[in-house]
Order: sequence, then structure tokens, then C-alpha cells
Amino acid sequence: MRILQLGLLVALASGVSAILIYIVGVSNQYDRLRVTEDDLNALRALQSGFKKCVETTQIIFEKHSQCGSELAVCDMIVVLVIKLHIAIVDSNGLGLQALISQDFCQVKIQYPSDTVSKWSDPETGEPEGLSFDFNLCEAAATWEQVRNSSTILTKEFIDALPNGWEEYAWRRINKGIQLDQCKNRTLCMEKLSSVLPETPPFVPRQFGRCAVIGNSGDLLKTKFGEEIDGYDAVVRENGAPIQNYTQYVGRKSTFRLLNRGSAKALDKVAELDETKKEVLIIKTTIHDIMNKMIREIPIRNQVYLMLGTSFGSSAKGTGLKALEFALSICDTVDMYGFTVDPGYKEWTRYFSESRKGHTPLHGRAYYQMMECLGIIKIHSPMRADFSRRVNYLPNKSTLDAARIASEKLLRRAGAGTNDKFGACSIMNKGQKGKFPTIPGLHEPAVNHQRYVEGASMYPLERNTGHGMLCVLP
Ligand SMILES: *[C@@H]1O[C@H](CO)[C@@H](O)[C@H](O)[C@H]1NC(C)=O
Ligand SMILES: *[C@@H]1O[C@H](CO)[C@@H](O)[C@H](O)[C@H]1NC(C)=O
Ligand SMILES: *[C@@H]1O[C@H](CO)[C@@H](O)[C@H](O)[C@H]1NC(C)=O
Ligand SMILES: *[C@@H]1O[C@H](CO)[C@@H](O)[C@H](O)[C@H]1NC(C)=O
Repeated sequence: MRILQLGLLVALASGVSAILIYIVGVSNQYDRLRVTEDDLNALRALQSGFKKCVETTQIIFEKHSQCGSELAVCDMIVVLVIKLHIAIVDSNGLGLQALISQDFCQVKIQYPSDTVSKWSDPETGEPEGLSFDFNLCEAAATWEQVRNSSTILTKEFIDALPNGWEEYAWRRINKGIQLDQCKNRTLCMEKLSSVLPETPPFVPRQFGRCAVIGNSGDLLKTKFGEEIDGYDAVVRENGAPIQNYTQYVGRKSTFRLLNRGSAKALDKVAELDETKKEVLIIKTTIHDIMNKMIREIPIRNQVYLMLGTSFGSSAKGTGLKALEFALSICDTVDMYGFTVDPGYKEWTRYFSESRKGHTPLHGRAYYQMMECLGIIKIHSPMRADFSRRVNYLPNKSTLDAARIASEKLLRRAGAGTNDKFGACSIMNKGQKGKFPTIPGLHEPAVNHQRYVEGASMYPLERNTGHGMLCVLP
């Protein structure tokens, strides 16, 4: 009997303590995620700077004074014929408008009302709209996370991912039935072996200044070639040729991002870069055709898979994927060859006839948002001055404070903590005890490796709170 009572007491006590622990935990979390007045001020500063960055215009008065200092009458005439030139000089957005709302995150980017939509949704037939809602908090938090991420698929990632082989790798190989959910892991690994490094081949900030080159026909309007060759690394897309276009697109090519169509013609793509040093990065599933080509042709270029692909649909956003990849390995990222100037009529590629560009106005507005958050810099025929300054960019302290506030508002994993591994919802210890494996890293990359203690951090797809998978050395 006494034992029973004691047991009851113990059970009760542990129940109460469990509840207490729960309450303390919740209130701790509540404290962490509490949005302070400072947080809100940071978001306000980000928003108002953003608005100015997109749309500030400078009005220039130009006096047409041809009559020198002669008569009062002449002065009057001058006043009458004063020509009011309203030149869009400082407007980074080239006529775009940014509307900010009471909400601390939402902004609307709007095109001039006389803009004619040239693209319609093939399913609904609706022409593309002229205003787009964006979430600045989402963008600030997500792109900063990308900058510290590994975006190349590795063996350590699959090993650490729950059901990594049975689900992720199996889907990625795209040979479902025969491989039977990778029950025979050796066989599965064989399929991936030519494209699967053990650990990330590149680390954050490994390269200094990078350029991402799109395929827009606009590239033929400006001779950017020499300028592009001046970057530390150049990222190209799909079947973009270099030969015969070097004065416009440069010669240098460090990486090439491939969608499904291009990856299937891996042998043709590998010929585009004469140096054969270009690293090929596939953003879709790996196919036996590709494996065969890598082994048998043989393709001398290094080939990798990019993480976080939307399996199947390959046309979707190679441009944004290329920016994501570049941001994960470069100090700064500039973009060329995207259709980002006013007056969009039809999408052409610099090396072929016009095609169906998708959602061009949405894309242009999104890239403008990225530029005004200081994530990328846009180069285009209308913004061809290399030394062009992007005005009203947020400074580092505003950006950091706004990002921390955004993480709290969005309930991101690790928000409000000082723990550098706070966002790691999966944490694994690697096998090799490696610290920076790449020789000759420049200082920003070394500093970052020190900061993360040599850990690799991978973004997890469809993870609530954008948690990461982290592998410590
Ligand atoms: C798994 O695949 C490998 C490589 O093809 C093969 O040698 C081995 O026999 C397979 N194992 C089983 C249990 O089927
Ligand atoms: C470059 O031009 C030459 C001569 O017109 C042509 O033979 C070659 O195929 C072109 N190269 C590319 C990559 O288009
Ligand atoms: C950064 O910008 C904010 C808002 O424009 C300003 O208040 C602050 O003084 C700036 N900080 C630095 C270090 O320049
Ligand atoms: C990314 O890494 C830098 C150090 O290189 C650090 O200061 C920053 O807080 C990190 N950002 C995130 C979102 O963890």
C-alpha cells in the first residue's frame, strides 16, 4: 500500500515537473521570439530605404539660356521656355514603384500603368499583372541563409538525412522501379558515384566577385565581354555559347548550371567551354544517360548535382537557381543577361530566335527587390555603367537587425538565439574530422569556416521554419 502511495506521489511529482519544464520551455521560446521595438524599427528602416532604392527619382532643371546676360526680356523668355527635364537618374528600379504597407514585411512593386503585358498564362490566358507582392522579411531571412549554405549534393548530406537513401537519393536517381527504394545501397551509390563528393567541393565565400550570366537577347546590346572576364568566377546557364559571342558575354566560364534538357546533352554542353575546366552543375534528377556519358564519352569536366531541386519540371527558374548557387559560394554576385530593363516585348536568347519567356514582369520586379536588399547588383543595357552605385542600399547593421527581426516574425528555426547552430534541425558528426579541406582559401572564406567550426550547413527542402541539416567535422 505504502509503495503504491509512494509510486503515486512520484508519478504526480514527475507529472508536475514535466508540466513545469514545458511551461518554462514555452515561455523561454516566447521570450526568444518576442518582437521588440528595436526589431520593428529595424524593419521600418529596411522598408523605407527599400522604397527609396526602388523609386527615387532626381529632377533635373535644365535652363536653355541662349541669350547670355543681355536683357530682362530675355530672362523672361528664359523663364517661359525653361525646359523641365524629369530624368530618372537615381532610380534603381527604372520606373518601378514600391508601395509599403502597415505590415512590416509586405511590399508591392508596381509597374507604370501604361506598361503593356506581353506574356499571358498559358493555362488561364490571363495577361501578366502589373503589380507584385513580395515579402521583404522572407527575402532578407532566406537569402542570408543561402549565403552560409552548401548547395551541392554530397554523400554526407544523404547519409545524415533521415531516409536519405531510401527517399531522397532514390527520387534523385529517377530510376524507381529497378532500384526498389535503394534497398541495395551499393547499387544506388554506384548510380550516383560520378557526381557525389563526400563533402562539399565549395564553401561559402570561396570566390570573391562572381558574375551570373543569363541568356537574354539584351546581352547583344552592350559589349560586356571584357568586364565579365574580370570576375573571379563566372556562372553560365544551359547551352549558352561562348565562342563567337565573346565580346558580349566574355570567355571566362567557371560553372554552368544545367536543366534537364541540357543535362541530357551533357556531351554537347561540355564542348561549349574550350578550357574543359568548367564545372557542370545539374539541377534535376540524374539519369542513366548522363552517367553513361560521364563514363564513356568521357567528359573531363567535374559534374555535380545541386541540392533542393524541384524534381521533374526543369524549365522553372534556372536563373534564380544560378543566383542561389553563386550566392552560396561568392562574396558578391553581379548579374548580366537577364531581361531587366523597361520595354519588354518578347524574350529572345542572345544565340537564338525568340522563345516563350515566362513571367518576365514578375522576374524583373523580383530581381529589383534582390538588388535593393543588397543581395545582387544588376547590369543591363540601361545600367551599363560599371561604376553605377545602387543608392539607398541598407547598411550592414540595418540588414542584420532586420534579418534577426524577420527570423522571429517568421518563426524560423533558431530565431532569436545567439547559437550559430540554432537553425540546425538535424545535426550530424562527420566521419573524417576534417576542417577546411580546400587549400588556398581567401580570408573571408577562412573566417567563415572558423565561425562555423568547419561545419557544412545544407538547406532542407519543405522544412517548416527553414531548418538546416548541419554536418560537423
Ligand atoms: C547490390 O548491387 C551490387 C552492385 O551492382 C551487386 O554487386 C550486389 O550483388 C547487390 N547486392 C544484392 C544483395 O543484391
Ligand atoms: C561560330 O562561328 C563559326 C563560323 O560561322 C561556326 O562554324 C561555329 O559553329 C560557331 N560556333 C558556335 C558555338 O556557334
Ligand atoms: C545604417 O542605416 C541606418 C538607417 O538608415 C542608420 O540609422 C544608421 O546610422 C546606419 N549605420 C551605420 C553604421 O552606418
Ligand atoms: C552567416 O555567417 C556569418 C559569418 O560568416 C555570420 O556572421 C552570420 O550570422 C551567419 N548568418 C546566419 C543566418 O547564420
